[in-house]
Amino acid sequence: MAKKAFLLSLATLPLVKTETVLGLYIFSRHGDRTPKALAPTNLTSLGAEEVYASGSYYRNKYVASDSTSPIYGLSHDVAALTQLAVTAPVDNVLQNSAQAFLQGLYPPAGNFSTQELRNDSETTAPLGGYQYIPVNAVSTASTSSNAENSPWLQGSSGCDNAVVSSNNYLSSTEYKTSFSQSADFYKGLLPVINSTFAASDATFKNAYAIFDYVHVATIHNQTIPASDLLTDQTLFELKVLADLHEWNLAYNSSDTVRAIAGATLAGQIVEALNDTIAGKSKQPLHIQFGAYGSFSSFFGLAQLPTVSDDFTGVVDYAASMAFELVTNASVSAGSYPSADDISVRFLFSNGSAADLTPTAYPLFGQQETVLPWSTFVSEINKFAVGDTPDWCRVCGVTTGSCASSSSGSGSGSDSGNSEPATRAPNGSNISLPVAGVIGALVTLAVVLGAEALIYFFTGLTLVKKSTLAASTAATTPGTKA
Ligand SMILES: *[C@@H]1O[C@H](CO)[C@@H](O)[C@H](O)[C@H]1NC(C)=O
Ligand SMILES: *[C@@H]1O[C@H](CO)[C@@H](O)[C@H](O)[C@H]1NC(C)=O
Ligand SMILES: *[C@@H]1O[C@H](CO)[C@@H](O)[C@H](O)[C@H]1NC(C)=O
Ligand SMILES: *[C@@H]1O[C@H](CO)[C@@H](O)[C@H](O)[C@H]1NC(C)=O
Ligand SMILES: *[C@@H]1O[C@H](CO)[C@@H](O)[C@H](O)[C@H]1NC(C)=O
Ligand SMILES: *[C@@H]1O[C@H](CO)[C@@H](O)[C@H](O)[C@H]1NC(C)=O
Ligand SMILES: *[C@@H]1O[C@H](CO)[C@@H](O)[C@H](O)[C@H]1NC(C)=O
Ligand SMILES: *[C@@H]1O[C@H](CO)[C@@H](O)[C@H](O)[C@H]1NC(C)=O
Ligand SMILES: *[C@@H]1O[C@H](CO)[C@@H](O)[C@H](O)[C@H]1NC(C)=O
Repeated sequence: MAKKAFLLSLATLPLVKTETVLGLYIFSRHGDRTPKALAPTNLTSLGAEEVYASGSYYRNKYVASDSTSPIYGLSHDVAALTQLAVTAPVDNVLQNSAQAFLQGLYPPAGNFSTQELRNDSETTAPLGGYQYIPVNAVSTASTSSNAENSPWLQGSSGCDNAVVSSNNYLSSTEYKTSFSQSADFYKGLLPVINSTFAASDATFKNAYAIFDYVHVATIHNQTIPASDLLTDQTLFELKVLADLHEWNLAYNSSDTVRAIAGATLAGQIVEALNDTIAGKSKQPLHIQFGAYGSFSSFFGLAQLPTVSDDFTGVVDYAASMAFELVTNASVSAGSYPSADDISVRFLFSNGSAADLTPTAYPLFGQQETVLPWSTFVSEINKFAVGDTPDWCRVCGVTTGSCASSSSGSGSGSDSGNSEPATRAPNGSNISLPVAGVIGALVTLAVVLGAEALIYFFTGLTLVKKSTLAASTAATTPGTKA
């Protein structure tokens, strides 16, 4: 018996492969903040602590020399700036969150930053070797700089088709039903919120702003007026209504142009991971901070609600999703695995990763939580918007920056306004070029679209001019310009 077990263990031993993480893309929400309804919105100390702890979690898992899944080739203690790409929209809460996160990821380098001078004296950088990691701004060009404004749909978008799609929700019977059914509920809350919301604003239209205001108060305000009205049931209902409102703005399965924020995020993710592979992990770590709406749009497009209905709810502060590039092939200076040997694992934490360990979930309606790279690429490219011409086309924008980029896109009869958002792609087949790719987290769309445009024109990221030129094929939107 014992002998058999021994042989068995011998037999299985060589099969136990060790996984190597070749790259990582993290997308995170900001930490706790003051309410959107009271501008300017600030990251709070609690919020900074949440994202800092999240960064520390990722450090302990992927970065430190004694981490459990060290990223191949990544510097352990002193950040090597060429290995990192960190972005956040021009929004102080998101920018500050990114910085606090980075302090957890690469804390002050202490004596690692000590340098010896020619005259033998030693110098240490200020603040214990605090590390200056740039957070590149996702500029918002034409619109208000706020990536998470609650009345985010109306008016302020560059993605025309997404605006149309959002408006479709606001004029739908579903919306009107929710509006009238919740009217008394919101009126009843006026004693709690009337210092900030007029009676006429206390409606489902402001479902998120009201939820947000009350939610922040329940964390920070010791003197909430009429706080006895805020029963658990009421707080729950506020959240349910806000979730319903925001989800319907973020994603609609028959009108996927609405999820433009998730589609552009997907384009950025697949391009970044592809660059990591192409560069043999020269730049293995990408981090982006963004709004909850991007999570929701992406969740919808990636079919996560089929895994759990919870994915239709607004994610918590400091929530993050991570895409690991992993391989079981041996990796060394001389041998980098081929794309065939590389897979992607998706993880999500609904809060600071330090408190809620990220969990693997299957994407795209698949069974497996580890998908071969080729499968990941073909699935995500069913909805990813990867470059400016693509964005212009799905958004139905032909002016401004799109006027100049459209000449390069040359996507034939698909270009221009041939896909008005009012015409949902009939049937369920999402393989229609990019008909299924658009969306309407409008502000976000603008933010991300503007980023794409800026990259397009300034080559801020690893722009490959050759792929730009080659980006004519509407079916391969994987390259961000
Ligand atoms: C945010 O910070 C600014 C500057 O400190 C302050 O004036 C403002 O009142 C703060 N906002 C809130 C909602 O606390
Ligand atoms: C930094 O300090 C720690 C503890 O004081 C020590 O163990 C380590 O060797 C030092 N590292 C360097 C690079 O001097
Ligand atoms: C060594 O050089 C640095 C930089 O020039 C200077 O600030 C420092 O005073 C010098 N130390 C000594 C002991 O001369
Ligand atoms: C998609 O949106 C349309 C109009 O906005 C709405 O009638 C429809 O019910 C939505 N579909 C889903 C699955 O929510
Ligand atoms: C808010 O409601 C309370 C209770 O109904 C009332 O006493 C107060 O005057 C109201 N405040 C405003 C600004 O309307
Ligand atoms: C607490 O709520 C009251 C009433 O809404 C408001 O006047 C006050 O500014 C809030 N305090 C803080 C710290 O937000
Ligand atoms: C994340 O947490 C929020 C708030 O608790 C909840 O509404 C949402 O459904 C959760 N999402 C997931 C995917 O668990
Ligand atoms: C590596 O092998 C282990 C054990 O067989 C397996 O659980 C894991 O999913 C594999 N990872 C990849 C990236 O194939
Ligand atoms: C990945 O990059 C390679 C070379 O840089 C390029 O040829 C290929 O089209 C890219 N694939 C995707 C999915 O972006």
